[in-house]
Amino acid sequence: MRTVVITGGTDGLGKGLALHYLRHGARVIAVGSTPAKGAALRAEAAAESAADRATFLQADLTSVAATRELVARIQSASPTVDQLVLCAQRYRLFGPRSVTPEGFEHAFALGYLSRYVLSHGLRTALEGAPRPVILNVGTPGVPLGRLHWDDLQLERRYGGFKATLQAFRANDLLGAAYPSRYPNTPVRYVGYHPGVVSTGMPHHLPPPWRALTRATFAVLATSVPKAVAPMTHLLDEPPADAFSAYQRKRRLAVTGRAFDEAAAARLHEVTRELIGAG
Ligand SMILES: NC(=O)c1ccc[n+]([C@@H]2O[C@H](COP(=O)([O-])OP(=O)(O)OC[C@H]3O[C@@H](n4cnc5c(N)ncnc54)[C@H](OP(=O)(O)O)[C@@H]3O)[C@@H](O)[C@H]2O)c1
Repeated sequence: MRTVVITGGTDGLGKGLALHYLRHGARVIAVGSTPAKGAALRAEAAAESAADRATFLQADLTSVAATRELVARIQSASPTVDQLVLCAQRYRLFGPRSVTPEGFEHAFALGYLSRYVLSHGLRTALEGAPRPVILNVGTPGVPLGRLHWDDLQLERRYGGFKATLQAFRANDLLGAAYPSRYPNTPVRYVGYHPGVVSTGMPHHLPPPWRALTRATFAVLATSVPKAVAPMTHLLDEPPADAFSAYQRKRRLAVTGRAFDEAAAARLHEVTRELIGAG
């Protein structure tokens, strides 16, 4: 039986994918920070007669230690992982800089470091599967934001948008670095931009922005079930290339500054040092 691991699998796009794969006979391990959302997903799985295939793992992915522990918990729940989907996200676009107890800026920790730890930590489990794939859901192809190499934790000049965009760009480089780290891996790494999708994301924004984002969603956004369809296609039929990027169904060129190989290698090394990775 296929095992699909989905961070942020309890809400929005991640939950849409979780329900899709539960309906299609896979085992789903959904990760989120809120137990009530995990219970709700399990109740929906039970209604689909899939309770025995739905696992919820609670973890706070702003913590590197908790993410590493999660890797171990996933491996003991399932030694092989067929598909890893990285969807966990919580934007803090406004308000002061927030730092995790481990000393990392919030967007860098949740949006990037957790994905780094999971992508590398679950590689061996993925390599045991026949067609392993990692789908890192973000905004590849969007020419906004950059790495602030001299101040990655944005201690000197913080801004919520700046931090969020930096984490997105770090994920572009995470994908770009993957094939050169593991030249012979069968794992296919796909960066994916889902377009504008109507999820619960605005709920966590301050009131005026919440209303504005909801109004924008009402006009522009795709529904979760519709947005999930091209994602499942890529997960079920991964591209031949070791690294690729898509905006919905459109394949993006993985060239240029966003996917620069030297910058990708540099970020990999800097990250290893930051989190003390072996
Ligand atoms: N929606 C869009 O229009 C859009 C556009 C472009 C890109 N994307 C990308 O698509 C992905 C999914 O977005 P979405 O809109 O579906 O998000 P969403 O509905 O807000 O769901 C976010 C998920 O992340 C989990 N999460 C948040 N903080 C966490 C933490 N500290 N530890 C563990 N889990 C955590 C949430 O669970 P808890 O609440 O329990 O923590 C929830 O399951 C994101 O990477 C986002 O950047 C979305």
